[in-house]
Amino acid sequence: MTPESKSYLAAALEAAGQGHLMGTWSDLTDGERTNLLTALEGLDLEQVQRLRERLRAPNDHAAKSFEPPLTFPLERSAEQAAQAEHASALGKRLLRENRVGFVLVAGGQGSRLGVDGPKGMVGVGPVSGLSLFGWHAARLSAAQQRHGGNITWFVMTSSSNDGATRAFFEEQDFFGLGQQNVHFFTQEMLPALDQEGRIVRTASDALFLAPNGHGGTLAALRSEGMLDVAAGLGIEQFSYFQVDNPLVRPADPLFLGLHALADADMSSKVVTKNDPAEKVGVLGLADGKLGCIEYSDLPEDLRTEKDGGGQLRFRAGNIAVHMIRRDFVEKLTKDGLLDLPWHLAQKNLKGLDVQGNPGEVPGVKFETFVFDALGAAANSVTLEVRREGEFSPVKNAEGPDSPSTCRLALTESFGHMLQAAGLDLPERDQDGTLPLEVDPRVAEDESEFCAANESAGGLEVLKGEHGWLYR
Ligand code: UD1
Repeated sequence: MTPESKSYLAAALEAAGQGHLMGTWSDLTDGERTNLLTALEGLDLEQVQRLRERLRAPNDHAAKSFEPPLTFPLERSAEQAAQAEHASALGKRLLRENRVGFVLVAGGQGSRLGVDGPKGMVGVGPVSGLSLFGWHAARLSAAQQRHGGNITWFVMTSSSNDGATRAFFEEQDFFGLGQQNVHFFTQEMLPALDQEGRIVRTASDALFLAPNGHGGTLAALRSEGMLDVAAGLGIEQFSYFQVDNPLVRPADPLFLGLHALADADMSSKVVTKNDPAEKVGVLGLADGKLGCIEYSDLPEDLRTEKDGGGQLRFRAGNIAVHMIRRDFVEKLTKDGLLDLPWHLAQKNLKGLDVQGNPGEVPGVKFETFVFDALGAAANSVTLEVRREGEFSPVKNAEGPDSPSTCRLALTESFGHMLQAAGLDLPERDQDGTLPLEVDPRVAEDESEFCAANESAGGLEVLKGEHGWLYR
């Protein structure tokens, strides 16, 4: 680097309030200087400026009015039941005709779970130990078996877990789905700032970068060429789901069909929130705009308010499952039109302070959220589903939403399948869980399990030391 270009860079950084990044230049080795220059080249200083402005912006945009959304309920009138039947038939047809692409969001860092590596590698099969990635793959294979068509799976990673995720898929031979049908794409990373708006470093030659939130999925679908891949394959809808929930049903004909019949841009699944203190976001309208109202944003009196039927009025718990039209993503991401708000997460970041001393720096990570796009949707369906059948995420190492609560939710749902078919259950473990697993390719609910049990070949069960496995 010539002295001129170095002083030009130093001046540009100084003007952007980031002079500290070059502060230790004279102490760096040649290798470290190269690393730092590469990191700085990847930096969009205009964007950093916008992040700094967001950091300083007062948080005074709290909504003034809240309304619950209109939902397609679990308890249906005769008319709704007929509509559901019609929608399911349409959904099955769209799956068979390959109009749906599956988008798995797996770019997060799993810091709460404390895992080393992609969260999708965590084993959740109660008997088989099958990973989250493997579990989702089994559900997609199941959809292919049941409805025909070809599966196209878009897997979003981030630079912190992309290599390990790809290696895992290869090692698992793409779970039998075919390498050509799995498309990896990577979300953008954003620099984390300290309280004064200066970029935090993890070392004197490296910046603290963090994934830009699941809202980054939309922009990355475009920037990574996935919209073109999807269009080329005739895919019209994206089924969006998060890696942490093995109960998710990504190929649900009812959800897909209702969304398509309503000509919706973006739709959501919700579960009933029974406990006002449960920390899930609820879908609702804030100042007339549909979105997810985070637990902390909903005033206390509304959080506990009951409706005429004695249920929580704001009970549409967000399980982060969406159906999104491809052309809606195209419209939103065209010419940088996508303008999702940045949410700030205050964290103690492991890194260097401005002087270059290592430690914990009080700082801020910036994220956008995919559900903020709901506000731009012309039409949207909110479908209520059974929590026991569709939602038990693995987020924490212990306590609620942990591997043990997820195992319990899975095994109980399998137990109900066996009971519905009149089959005996295995003896419960010492901790009370059923050592039982039903592969999604066998059945995903009680009626499918009963049908499989009554089919000509019947069901095959392996009884091993870890429990019973139907596959
Ligand atoms: C999220 C929702 C919450 C909802 C809950 C349901 C937010 C802010 N809130 O909570 O309303 O009730 O899920 O499970 O999202 N991810 C990325 N890239 C990122 C960030 C996240 O791929 O940059 C992925 C993660 O891998 C994970 C998912 O998004 O699969 C959810 O992220 P997480 O931060 O765990 O959301 P929650 O706070 O649990």
